[in-house]
Amino acid sequence: MVSMKIEKIKLRQFRNLNQVELEFKNNLNILVGNNGQGKTNFIESIVYLSSGRSFRLGNDLGLLEDSKGFARVDALLKRKEETYQLQAVISNQGKYFEVNQKACSLMSDFIGYCNVVLFNPDDLQFFSNTPKKRRREIDFELGKMSKMYMHRLSQASKILSERNAYLKTHTIDTDYLSILTESLIEESEYIIKSRQAMIKKLEPIVDEKYKFLSGSQASIELEYRSTCTNMENIKDDLRGKMNQSLQRDLDFKMTHVGIHRDDFVFKMNGNMVVDVASQGQKRLIILAYKLALVDMIVAKDHEFPILCLDDLFSELDKEKRAMVLKTLDPRMQVFVTTTDVEFVSQKEDVSVFTVVQGRINEEVSA
Ligand SMILES: Nc1ncnc2c1ncn2[C@@H]1O[C@H](COP(=O)(O)OP(=O)(O)O)[C@@H](O)[C@H]1O
Ligand SMILES: [Mg+2]
Repeated sequence: MVSMKIEKIKLRQFRNLNQVELEFKNNLNILVGNNGQGKTNFIESIVYLSSGRSFRLGNDLGLLEDSKGFARVDALLKRKEETYQLQAVISNQGKYFEVNQKACSLMSDFIGYCNVVLFNPDDLQFFSNTPKKRRREIDFELGKMSKMYMHRLSQASKILSERNAYLKTHTIDTDYLSILTESLIEESEYIIKSRQAMIKKLEPIVDEKYKFLSGSQASIELEYRSTCTNMENIKDDLRGKMNQSLQRDLDFKMTHVGIHRDDFVFKMNGNMVVDVASQGQKRLIILAYKLALVDMIVAKDHEFPILCLDDLFSELDKEKRAMVLKTLDPRMQVFVTTTDVEFVSQKEDVSVFTVVQGRINEEVSA
């Protein structure tokens, strides 16, 4: 079993991190600092290497330090026996990615080198979010695990847009419409199968991790709510539902059923998490879900991703913090941010960094 590791990182004008250069010798890295100092900005730069976009902003230009023309992230990533030089540059002209000093013509050529699983406090909104945002989250994780999924999902959404545009035209050739419908069904089958398989795999792991973290017997169930209700025969099921909806589609000039309406529901003892769980319970459920994603990645790739836990520890009591730390495999590189210096125990094999007004310095133990 191997793990990927960022050995060095260099940031230029990335939000308030004007110039940061760090080396990571230990797997467990703790960043300590008051609010508004740049901890999440640092985590955001690491996530950027994984996804090629900000997890907090719709527009990456917000990542540029005020009035600066560009922001840059350079990292040295070790995977198995290989070392990769990754570079991401964000500017008014757009984004630019390099691996080993070779430009990536597509963003998807850059994504996949560095695999990061992130816990961020905003993730707690998962349960109360719109289905669209939940789908985006699940699709994002599935896409990281499979390029094929990413490809077929983008095919499906192209066909869907085409079908919707066609429904808005004046003269509709029903033969052409059914060709579009059929190709949409073709792509949808793969997506439905993948979503279903992911939820089935995740469920027992999330349940087990939640029981451990919470010290309770409450069970967590994950439900994939799909348009398709017959998983044995997805295409026929979908075809039937789309036929039933055809008149409505023609009347309202849009596609009413399909994978673009799917949802994912988390339940606790049979009740919707959004209805019954406390803030603290939701936090642990999300954490259990993120840790389950790590397990899934390890099972698939035999390689640990990088785990970022942003601001989790500020919200947990001492006992729970210890418990979380205990569940983390020591072979995995982990970045933890916290406002609470006390949490930093005198453990060995931990690097501690202080974050003050955009400057990050490693604490050297006496
Ligand atoms: N584009 C930007 N340019 C300069 N500073 C920024 C930019 N975006 C955010 N900041 C600053 O970064 C700080 C917040 O950093 P953040 O990492 O979210 O803090 P925390 O340590 O609480 O996680 C704030 O002081 C904010 O003004
Ligand atoms: Mg923060």
